[in-house]
Amino acid sequence: MSAGDLATIKEMLLSSGYDEKAINYYLTRPNQGPLENADHVTELTGPCGDTMKCYIKVDQGKIEDAKFQVLGCPGAISAAMALADLVRGKDLSGALEVKDGDVFRELVNIPDQKQHCIRLAVKTLAKAIEEYREKR
Ligand code: FES
Repeated sequence: MSAGDLATIKEMLLSSGYDEKAINYYLTRPNQGPLENADHVTELTGPCGDTMKCYIKVDQGKIEDAKFQVLGCPGAISAAMALADLVRGKDLSGALEVKDGDVFRELVNIPDQKQHCIRLAVKTLAKAIEEYREKR
């Protein structure tokens, strides 16, 4: 992507209500999967049709690492990237306590109509943790 394209995308996201921090998560994708040697991988499709794949690596009951692959909108991508940062190092119960509002605060701001994208990220991670617990 050229610098001009990037600037245009950034401009569009800013004007539609994304904070710089959310845009940065979207553009740099620091927690994009796949994750090598994940202990569990799961997938969830939201009502909008967007799909997320969540990889978790668990060490002694803690999320050592989490990554996401997202087929979806900037809201979904930024939410998944932020959520992975928020849960890394937490134990499984602590990770399940990270809610939509926590992800929203991490992103600072995304458009109102994108709140369900945060929901999808939180639900996908919860599914990964629940399935991981069940198989053990
Ligand atoms: Fe579907 Fe954002 S529009 S997750």
